Formats: sequence, structure tokens, C-alpha cells
Amino acid sequence: MHCVRKIVEDLYWVGGNDSRLALFENIHPIPRGVSYNSYLLLDEKTVLFDTVDWSICRQFLENIHEVLGDRTLDYLVVNHVEPDHAAGIEELILRYPDMKIICSNKAYLFMGQFGFNVDGRVIEVKDKDAMSFGKHNLIFMSAPMVHWPEVMVTFDTTNGVLFSADAFGAFGSLDGKLFKDEINFDSNWIDDTRRYYTNIVGKYGPHVQALLKKASSLDIKIICPLHGPVWRDDLEYLLDKYNKWSIYEPEEKGVMIVYGTMYGNTESAAYNLATRLVEKGMTNVVMYDVSKTHVSYLISDTFKYSNLVLASVTYNLNIYPPMLDYIMDMKALNLQKRKVAIIENGSWAPKSGKLMREHLDGMKEMTILDNEVSINSTMKEHDIDSMNDLADSIIQSIK
Ligand code: FEO
Repeated sequence: MHCVRKIVEDLYWVGGNDSRLALFENIHPIPRGVSYNSYLLLDEKTVLFDTVDWSICRQFLENIHEVLGDRTLDYLVVNHVEPDHAAGIEELILRYPDMKIICSNKAYLFMGQFGFNVDGRVIEVKDKDAMSFGKHNLIFMSAPMVHWPEVMVTFDTTNGVLFSADAFGAFGSLDGKLFKDEINFDSNWIDDTRRYYTNIVGKYGPHVQALLKKASSLDIKIICPLHGPVWRDDLEYLLDKYNKWSIYEPEEKGVMIVYGTMYGNTESAAYNLATRLVEKGMTNVVMYDVSKTHVSYLISDTFKYSNLVLASVTYNLNIYPPMLDYIMDMKALNLQKRKVAIIENGSWAPKSGKLMREHLDGMKEMTILDNEVSINSTMKEHDIDSMNDLADSIIQSIK
């Protein structure tokens, strides 16, 4: 059954939701599912903005048919070729054989790589090229690495709608509520918006900054991303979040303690530190067991908080493997500008502290606190002073 929403005059959401998928990109858990957004413009010509993942293609085709009625589809704008948005292209060609595809040169190449036969129907556009479809005039703007190299965004100068590709997206199915003003964003969506950004686009901060600069010259009224809610109010809030995330500025002064523990002794030391921090007045403390928390959640909160504590047992004379995975992901995503404290544990040869410090030293603008706590198997009375000093040092670094 078709399921569509009107965005604004002439424009309809014709996407869908997949709540059965467990892992986005087969990596990131999405317990609330994900939406694949696509938008259909009815002007003198009909224009579709991106397609959807194969998993919801049937729903998508019913939606397009419902909105088009007796009309045909004249144009498909491909802002992004990743298969979660491009899987429906060949199905559309079968149903609308005269459809033209508007895309960047790299998008054309990528469609060929994925095996789509689009020859003879592609209109290549460059940065700032414009086209009119009747009442609506579109400007195409390149947005490389947000989040693939072929990406562009499209701006409708007639109604101020920005089709933003992956930018400004979120994990989570849209349970009937399409617009950000229909949901409780701060309670239910901010965490999955941050987790989506940081894990999918987080590595490409400078490219996101370039896109934000381009966007600042536009009179944007509505943001239509490829995942998650559509924004028609409070755009400054979202733009401010994107600005912070893309320059790797923390959102909050607070301490995130991530611990890797085998038998609970490193965990006990981590709790000891957390308690001291709270007693000294820093109540914005969150704790994660690195073995029990998917790294995508860790990355998301690492972008959120100003201070990080890594507490790791030594394992085979190395960093505890789940902790090493987390650190490597931080490096891969280009995380910067955090203040980090270290606690190591080891029963006969504590090494994890030195090794974590070496990894952190290789990252940009990371401040590693000089105080470090090294415990042997369990935290003892003689470790209290150094743990207390570490807590003081963290508090001092936050001021
Ligand atoms: Fe939602 Fe980069 O694809």
C-alpha cells in the first residue's frame, strides 16, 4: 500500500522505512530501523530526488505511482550513488524508459561500476549548474566526501528546499512522523542523529565545513535529507550541531569513562574515579563497558563530551582488544581536540597505558593528561592518592 507525505506545494516524500534491518552498512546497530527518503516534485516536468534501498523498493514504486497518477517520470536527480539510495534506479528505468538522470560526472562513473546501464540518459552537471523544470529552478552543488566523492546536493530556489543527500540525516524509522516538528527531537532523535553523523560522515569534517559554507549563502527553508526527519523549522539548531561536529568541538563539558575489564577490577577502578569526579562537583559523567557497547555508540558520545578516560586492562602485553578497536575507530574517524586521561591495569607487566598514549599521541590536538594511574590486578589503598590526583587533574582540565 502506498504511504506518502506532502512536504510543501508540488513536493512529496515517497520514501519508506526498514525496521527489520539489524545493522546499517552491516556494521552499525539500528534498533529503531532507518528511513530511506526520496522526494518527488510535480512541475511542468516531474523530478524525483534519489531512489531507495532495495529492501523497500516495492513500497517506493507504489508511492511514486500514487503521486504521479497518469503522468510519467521525466527526471531522476541522483545526488548520491551509495546503494541505500541508488538501488531503485534500474527499476525506474524499466517503468519510465524515457527518464533522464541528472548527476555528477563521478556519479555517472559509479553507476557504471555498480552495473547500472544508464548510458544515453545521463545529463552531467557541475557545481552551481542550474536547470528549470517549469515553476521550479534547481541549482546543483557538489558536496564531495559528504559522504562519497560523487555527492552533490540540490537546492530549489523557488521554495527554498535543500535536498541534502546524507548530510543532516539520522538513524531511525519515521513512524508516521516525517517532520522534525512532529517528533520530540531532543528526547528521541538527537542521539541517533549524532551517531549517524559521527560514524558515517565524521571522518570528513573539512568537507562538511565546505558544504556548510556553501549552504550559508542559500535561503534554505526546508532540509530534505536521505535519512531521518525533514527539517522545516529550527534549522539553526541543526546547522550549529553540524558545525560543532565537523570541527570536532565537544558539545558538552563532561567526562566519558570507557573501561575494558576482564574480571571487574578495572571496572571497579573506573567506578572509583567516577565517584571521585562526582564528589568533586563534575556530575556530567557517563561510563561504558567497552565489551558491552557497540563502538558506534562510543564514537557518538566521544564526539559529544569534552573529556575522555580510557581504562584498559593489559591483554597479551597489548591493549585489551575491544579497547584497541575503539581507539582505532576514533583514529579512523579523525577525532580530535579531546582531553584524555589514562588508567592501566596489568597483573605482571602493565603495558596498556603506554600503548594507549602512543595511539593518542598520533591524533590531532589531543591533550593527554600527565597524571596516569597504573594498577596491578586490583586498585589498593596505595593507589588512592594517584586516583585522587587524576580526578583533580581532570576537573582542572575542564575549567
Ligand atoms: Fe545513506 Fe552514503 O548513504
